[in-house]
Amino acid sequence: MNDTGPLGEEQTMDSTSSDSQDDYDSASTGRTGSDSPLTDGETDEEIRAEWTDYEFDGRAKFDVDELNVYYGDDRALRDISIEIPEDSVTALIGPSGCGKSTFLRCLNRMNDRIKTARIDGSVAFDGENIYRDGVNLVELRKRVGMVFQSPNPFPKTIRDNVSYGPRKHGDIEKGLLARLTGRDDTDEEDELVERSLRQAALWDEVHDRLDDNALGLSGGQQQRLCIARALATDPEVLLMDEPASALDPIATSKIEDLIDDLSEEYTVVVVTHNMQQAARISDQTAVFLTGGELVEYGDTEQIFENPQSQRVEDYITGKFG
Ligand SMILES: Nc1ncnc2c1ncn2[C@@H]1O[C@H](COP(=O)(O)OP(=O)(O)OP(=O)(O)O)[C@@H](O)[C@H]1O
Ligand SMILES: [Mg+2]
Repeated sequence: MNDTGPLGEEQTMDSTSSDSQDDYDSASTGRTGSDSPLTDGETDEEIRAEWTDYEFDGRAKFDVDELNVYYGDDRALRDISIEIPEDSVTALIGPSGCGKSTFLRCLNRMNDRIKTARIDGSVAFDGENIYRDGVNLVELRKRVGMVFQSPNPFPKTIRDNVSYGPRKHGDIEKGLLARLTGRDDTDEEDELVERSLRQAALWDEVHDRLDDNALGLSGGQQQRLCIARALATDPEVLLMDEPASALDPIATSKIEDLIDDLSEEYTVVVVTHNMQQAARISDQTAVFLTGGELVEYGDTEQIFENPQSQRVEDYITGKFG
């Protein structure tokens, strides 16, 4: 795994890189979903007290405190406080427009790219507030990788898609793989490509056509390629925004198995609209509801079998949302 050094004090790089090939840049971040009708009332304070004290085994990878996000005058997230444990899978669920993607993008400052977005509150990553001045955003996004709903491979070869990030960061020259494997006789690029494709459960399908254009892959393969691309820079966290929503059941189950495997070594935060999927793959579930409120958070089993909040129960059982 990665060095977990500080995010760098120097005022560096940027959220406004003009490199259109940057995997982060190529993602579409804007949307204007419509709101579903408001449910009445704020979260019951007792319920809030119960889940904000939610205790888990292990360490918090993220500690989000009183996070509010506005787009212009519209508030998309309201007073979100949550701790996300490391090396586990946290699912974010809730109706369309409730702020799940907005929240996910706060975890690696991808919202910085949206001109109208304004953020209050703090997000600590390994104890360090990523919204303080001087944070190196390139380093942050390398450590906190992201996979989007629609696969967005570059119009390059499969090999180049995977090695793009490590090349850009100079990791191949610096011997990233040699460091990861403890060997110094590695053929950095080839082995890194193979390792990442294997991790993303795609190697067997593509090993004999690494020099073909990635756009010739199926949607499910393209999505796994994007996961391989995100893994190639050796992140600690993988943020996934509905990564399987455009895929058939077989491709979906491959992504689910993959998420399960990844959670041994990585912190995974995944948005899904599919309740069964959230129940199957996650350790914790956070339920956002309309208005940008985090209504309940806890062990996935508890959330699905015994939600504390009536609104969450109604949402989970399909009464609204
Ligand atoms: N770039 C943007 N500019 C303006 N408003 C935005 C932008 N992105 C999101 N919003 C607004 O913020 C709110 C939350 O949107 P967000 O995309 O985070 O919801 P979501 O829960 O991910 O929805 P979905 O399930 O449909 O993906 C919505 O009201 C949306 O219209
Ligand atoms: Mg979304």
